[in-house]
Amino acid sequence: MGVKAIVKNILPQYLVEHIRNAKSTMILSREYKIQAKRFRESYSREWSTGKMQVQSRTMFLTHQLEKGLSHKNFRYGFGLGVFEALGTMLTRFENADSQYLINPVYKECMSAIHEYIIRHQRAGKDLSKQSQFLSHEQWNRALNWEEKDGGTAILLAKDKINNSELPFSALVQHRHSLREYSNQPVTQNELRQAVQLATSAPSACNRQPARVVEVLDQKLIAQLLNIQGGVRGYATPPALLLVTAKQSVFMGTNERNQGYVDGGLFSMMLLLSLESIGLASCPLHTMFDGYKDQMTRDLLHIPDDEILIMYIEVGHYPDRAMTPQSTRLPVDDVLRVVK
Ligand SMILES: Cc1cc2nc3c(=O)[nH]c(=O)nc-3n(C[C@H](O)[C@H](O)[C@H](O)COP(=O)(O)O)c2cc1C
Repeated sequence: MGVKAIVKNILPQYLVEHIRNAKSTMILSREYKIQAKRFRESYSREWSTGKMQVQSRTMFLTHQLEKGLSHKNFRYGFGLGVFEALGTMLTRFENADSQYLINPVYKECMSAIHEYIIRHQRAGKDLSKQSQFLSHEQWNRALNWEEKDGGTAILLAKDKINNSELPFSALVQHRHSLREYSNQPVTQNELRQAVQLATSAPSACNRQPARVVEVLDQKLIAQLLNIQGGVRGYATPPALLLVTAKQSVFMGTNERNQGYVDGGLFSMMLLLSLESIGLASCPLHTMFDGYKDQMTRDLLHIPDDEILIMYIEVGHYPDRAMTPQSTRLPVDDVLRVVK
């Protein structure tokens, strides 16, 4: 018998458990520290000048413009703060990537600004405040940008009628997040059907940690989204789902992040399931600080062994709606082949 087994036999059970707990606390804090260090050293800060970090901030700002442009209640003059931030970011972009004119993120940004300018010019609106934040060259480049590399996409309810018959490639390319829905309520039956389909998502050793909380109460949805904060200015969606993952299904400290992976896979499956049955949706982050996390848990009675993965708004497609184009990176930027 090894020393470990002998000690385990001699010591009372409660002490063995105590030692094991102390050991897992040590491992977890060491692993989280390494994770925190890696994150701290790479994430995009306000002052970052690295290509990826600048590209990401530009993408974020472009997304704000695309959201504003696709709003049903379009507000002329929106996004002054975005233009101010873009002034710095575009110049940094041009310094970080010598090929910026063919960079899809830069192109998307130019295209979104172009749509912004045209929409305002057509309505005879003054853009002197916005233009002062960009260089003369950047403003003119956007003004004359002809390719539709970004901006808004138009979604029509009639195009969604046969979604259940679409081949996979068409279904995934067809799906866009939508934040403004028709007045038609979403039924529990429809949501159940989508969640049932999503249970086919894979998970580590089939332990299936994902759970879904369904909320149809409009007052509660408004309260939750007010805490969430990512869809201010939009009407309350007909239904809100919260995907969570049970930590209690995992068996070792090395699985500390597995719930996010399995929960993410489940969420994607759920988004596609909703789309396939003709429902519109929008995923919303639940990466909260402790205060928001607790308020959300309290409102929805989320047990402590569950982590929040994401919300998914659900509604029916209106006859016609606009949504951010959210252009994707080319496959060569995503795929790296190791030879
Ligand atoms: C985890 C996650 C969190 C998101 N959070 C928000 C959010 O808080 N507010 C919002 O308007 N959109 C949010 N989105 C939607 C993204 O903006 C959208 O998925 C992205 O622009 C790609 O566009 P698409 O879904 O139309 O393909 C989120 C998406 C994901 C996957």
